[in-house]
Amino acid sequence: MKFFVDTADTAEIKELEATGLLDGVTTNPSLIAKSGRDFKEVIAEICAITAGDVSAEVAATDFDTMIKEAHVLRAIADNVVIKLPLTFDGLKACKQLSEDGTKTNVTLCFSANQALLAAKAGATYISPFIGRLDDIHADGLELIREIRVIYDNYGYETEILAASIRTPNHVKECAIIGADVATVPPATLKGLVKHPLTDKGLDAFLSDWAKTGQTIL
Ligand code: E4P
Repeated sequence: MKFFVDTADTAEIKELEATGLLDGVTTNPSLIAKSGRDFKEVIAEICAITAGDVSAEVAATDFDTMIKEAHVLRAIADNVVIKLPLTFDGLKACKQLSEDGTKTNVTLCFSANQALLAAKAGATYISPFIGRLDDIHADGLELIREIRVIYDNYGYETEILAASIRTPNHVKECAIIGADVATVPPATLKGLVKHPLTDKGLDAFLSDWAKTGQTIL
């Protein structure tokens, strides 16, 4: 499974990129607003940090303007992926951009039928939002399961990019279900390495090693 980080914070992206475990980055207008930085500048900086796919979202809601914005964003770097909302205009833009060879990420997916439409529109990625469904007492992981079955039934190549991930358990369940990618906030991504028994075990090994009085180097 690929790991994307869901942030526009370039310091966090640099730190995670250095681990060698990062496959890409997703941003959205809220994350850009939180960064307080110029959108195009921050996308260019992220694309210089990672060679992986970097999702940049259009701000328009009509087809013509979405296409114009997509051309501007696509020109920033080769690894820009155009993020489009799950509306008929967004799907129409997705179809055209995909036919032109532009990578796309259809976002704000909350139902299996929406994911089916995105696949038919040739989306590179579909972003089902797990946490926001859980927030309204629906089952976000069930949506990932449904999409996996539907895409496998028909051999759709659209990758399931599990989004709105809030917990390490979301990541684990997505991996079990077979999501292709998980986009994870930096803190949750860093949390995946943590286990109290790892810390306890390492402390014990280090303390016993010190007793041997030996060195390896
Ligand atoms: C995905 O691309 C979105 O940017 C993101 O995962 C949304 O997460 P949130 O629901 O925590 O805002």
